Amino acid sequence: MTPEPTKKPIRYLSGVQSSGRLHLGNYFGAIQNHIRLQDQGECFYFIANYHALTTVQNAGELKNYTFMVAADYLALGLDPAKALLFRQSDVPEVNELAWILSTVTGMGLMERAHSYKDKVAKGIAPNLGLFYYPALMAADILIYHSDKVPVGQDQVQHIEMCRDMAGYFNNTFKKDVFKLPEAVLSEAPKVIGLTGGKMSKSDEASVIPIFGEPAEIKKKVMSIVTDSKGVAEPKDPDQNVIYLLYKLVARPEEAAEMEKGFRQGGMGYGDAKKMLLAKLEEVFGGAGREKRKKLEEKPDMVEDVLLAGAHKARKAAAQTMELVYEATGLPLSKIKKAMLDS
Ligand code: ADP
Ligand code: TRP
Repeated sequence: MTPEPTKKPIRYLSGVQSSGRLHLGNYFGAIQNHIRLQDQGECFYFIANYHALTTVQNAGELKNYTFMVAADYLALGLDPAKALLFRQSDVPEVNELAWILSTVTGMGLMERAHSYKDKVAKGIAPNLGLFYYPALMAADILIYHSDKVPVGQDQVQHIEMCRDMAGYFNNTFKKDVFKLPEAVLSEAPKVIGLTGGKMSKSDEASVIPIFGEPAEIKKKVMSIVTDSKGVAEPKDPDQNVIYLLYKLVARPEEAAEMEKGFRQGGMGYGDAKKMLLAKLEEVFGGAGREKRKKLEEKPDMVEDVLLAGAHKARKAAAQTMELVYEATGLPLSKIKKAMLDS
């Protein structure tokens, strides 16, 4: 009998910028999926500190946020025995690949990037890194031959651009070096922020940090702005930040109860805020917060996890770079080989 061909596991890859504290949008849009997927395939997760450098330009802050992202992932349940967690900058070959991809990518594609246009529209003075950002992201994905990329809605266009760049490369050099990755969305791909727009690290007022102190979270929830409708009046839950966040943390029947109270009247904003607070504490307080606090006291352990992850990720990256050198005619010289083997 011929043996069954062994099926290659699906490789999942994703990155989160170390540009602030992780928030509910990061969790329900991406990280919850990252942690679930560690039982379903090969997972590569990294802290996008090169990307963060486009906005965080202070050494202490960048290091601190990088540590915080790692500790949050571990406290939320990432198991380093199942999934790799590493710093983007520990695999510097991604920059080399980003440059190579940029040479086969038209300006038109880059100029269509929403996230760049949105940041410029917000008045952020763009640096070249911000414009080049999707090329580095494409390199992050392609260098590990990733199959699937679990992210929030805002990153989908970047993954489409990555597919385009992979295709340009393969066509230009007439070799199928890269496979085309696919985005994977969670059930909550666009989590609303406290100020009504997308919850985002770049707007502190919009976020509920996953592991914020209870007093801080209470203050943030209690100050969510509402209209002046009284308890008995019917209210529209679909535009209501309190309900939309509650739906993420509560059980379906509990969310349905709040929804009914808003639609029919009888549910006041004050009570709804208290219910949201209690659920947040139930889901992220207790054991999770304890574990997060303990990790704060063990930076060496966190560092060991990141180094072990980087070691494996860099090996995978080096193999891809060999194919890229071969396809393009860039040499894998002795000096480079020694560096890659180190
Ligand atoms: P931020 O937008 O807060 O700076 P990142 O850009 O580092 O966060 O995003 C990390 C991951 O979290 C990405 O997959 C992104 O799509 C997802 N994400 C960020 N904000 C939200 C949100 N409000 N809703 C859903 N997913 C989100
Ligand atoms: N740009 C992503 C974000 O802001 C972070 C990121 C960098 C990423 N490289 C990636 C996500 C590769 C997925 C795959 O959320």
